[in-house]
Amino acid sequence: MKAIVQDTYGSTDVLRYTDVERPDPGAGEVLVRVRAAALNHGDRVDLHGIPAIARLVLGVRRPRVPILGRAVAGTVERIGANVTAWRPGDEVLAETVKRAFAEYVAVPATALAAKPETVTFEQAATLPVSGTTALQAMRLAGVDTTPGRSVLINGASGGVGTFAVQLAKVYGAHVTGVCSTRNAEHVRALGADRIVDYTREDLTRGTGRFDVIVDLAGSHPLGEMRRLLTPDGVYVASSGTGGPLLGPLPRLLAIVVTAPLRGGRLRTLTARPNAADLATLAGLVAAGRLTPVVERTRPLSETADALRVLETEHARGKTVLTV
Ligand SMILES: NC(=O)c1ccc[n+]([C@@H]2O[C@H](COP(=O)([O-])OP(=O)(O)OC[C@H]3O[C@@H](n4cnc5c(N)ncnc54)[C@H](OP(=O)(O)O)[C@@H]3O)[C@@H](O)[C@H]2O)c1
Repeated sequence: MKAIVQDTYGSTDVLRYTDVERPDPGAGEVLVRVRAAALNHGDRVDLHGIPAIARLVLGVRRPRVPILGRAVAGTVERIGANVTAWRPGDEVLAETVKRAFAEYVAVPATALAAKPETVTFEQAATLPVSGTTALQAMRLAGVDTTPGRSVLINGASGGVGTFAVQLAKVYGAHVTGVCSTRNAEHVRALGADRIVDYTREDLTRGTGRFDVIVDLAGSHPLGEMRRLLTPDGVYVASSGTGGPLLGPLPRLLAIVVTAPLRGGRLRTLTARPNAADLATLAGLVAAGRLTPVVERTRPLSETADALRVLETEHARGKTVLTV
């Protein structure tokens, strides 16, 4: 089968579109014929091995798993031993531990969610990673249980942000989205009640206060963001970038260390793969309450180009590879 392979860390130049052996589903696994796979911020970390600390998990000298890709939608091709929940031909989506940028991927049966018929493969592939991160951020901040909260999404036009804006509206929040000029109208169309264009306005100098801040950009010092909270407000940090060695870790550690002093109002989000969350998101898409923003699609063979574009241009929603 064809796959996008990296033997070493580096730029998109190290990627090869090449033939590799098709995986066999092990016990408890399902072989999925990939129809669409979405690019994510994490693919860039996997590719470059930067921040360096990520190599402790990814492989110190070279990537332990040489095939990129973590967000997939496709059809069940074969099932391994002990799998009863799925049958060949079922349409599914999943978050994988890499290996998704390929014609086939073996996935634990428990990681799969059913793709509703009315949701396209391209839409479904955007839900793992980006959709689940946004959904888990809503839950961590309690947006899903208390309607009417004022929610600030910093980084509202990207892969996670476009879901976060829409989910916050689903849960009845008043949403302020922070993005650049080019994306302002788009974020408004997703439902944001107010836009802060960070190229023209410094949000930390405004007088607005928020019950919830979901920070996907990490663009301001923690202290400045904290001052934007209402007295009971909750700040959720979903990484941001940071330095080449430790990445966002110092910022996240600062939150973990100071959180007890702030009564648990500062929280870090480490989104976890979750098939039930995928089913929830797919259901919202099927019901017309959530619309994945697919900015562009590219064939699998053009993954390197697609990643290059993602690195040089700001995202508007998701880029999806079609197989
Ligand atoms: N915690 C977790 O488990 C988890 C999971 C997934 C992702 N993440 C992290 O979440 C972050 C966002 O991911 P993503 O996939 O949404 O990235 P993305 O698609 O690249 O989007 C980044 C967003 O940040 C905005 N942005 C850039 N500079 C900004 C600034 N100075 N102020 C405000 N917004 C700014 C961009 O807006 P414009 O294009 O309009 O400039 C864009 O909307 C990344 O750091 C990623 O690593 C964390």
